[in-house]
Amino acid sequence: MFRIEYYDSLESTNDYIKSRKNEDEGLVIVAKSQTNGRGQGNNKWVSEEGGLYFSILLKPEKILPALSIMTGWVVLKTLETFGIKDLKLKWSNDILHFDSKISGVLIESKLLSDKPEYIIIGCGINVNQSVFQNVNEYTPTSMYLINNEKIDLKTVLNKFLDIFKEYYFDSCNNGDFFQNTLESKEFKSKIYKKDEVINIQLYNGDIIQAVLKGIDKTGGLIISDKENNTKILYSGRIIK
Ligand code: BTN
Repeated sequence: MFRIEYYDSLESTNDYIKSRKNEDEGLVIVAKSQTNGRGQGNNKWVSEEGGLYFSILLKPEKILPALSIMTGWVVLKTLETFGIKDLKLKWSNDILHFDSKISGVLIESKLLSDKPEYIIIGCGINVNQSVFQNVNEYTPTSMYLINNEKIDLKTVLNKFLDIFKEYYFDSCNNGDFFQNTLESKEFKSKIYKKDEVINIQLYNGDIIQAVLKGIDKTGGLIISDKENNTKILYSGRIIK
């Protein structure tokens, strides 16, 4: 399914793949470094050589509400196959090793009335870096810093795509592979800050405090507020 193109340097793999949005789904753009790597919100994604930076063009026939969580989960599973333990999924798709960030995902899409025109999944995984330029809210870490072992970036990418393919096609075909994952003990045990009090920045900038109860089957964040009311959030960001 995937057609992978490798580049030495791009401004942003997400921006570049957008210029090719009319192509068939399955295009994967990989860059050794990015000069204008973008993160969520207005954050930059520092993208020096050593990290894995790629974007995938998708054109599913329907909206897949849990795609964002699913992508984060696939990154987590990929990292585990390389022997990295103690990973958590921070809603909706950051992967943390203890309190340090090892991967982030930026999904951008254009919707038609009933289905996406295209979806771009942009993923940054810290693989072989040993120093990081700027430190954001969550201190960065890398597979190398955790395991003290350099890994070929293509091996990591291929593993990600193998696992992603399974979950993605199953979801497109109304399968319940990922739905079962969301309900599994394993998934629940890997949700960052589950049953703890968290701060959430809402889309309008307001910050609220609530207890994180879980993630529902559409990928929403289940929280319980001070008055014990349960709510489901579909946007917003867990902050420190
Ligand atoms: C985040 O803020 O956590 C999301 C980071 C996403 C970074 C990736 S790297 C490949 C792709 N191209 C970009 O410009 N951003 C994403």
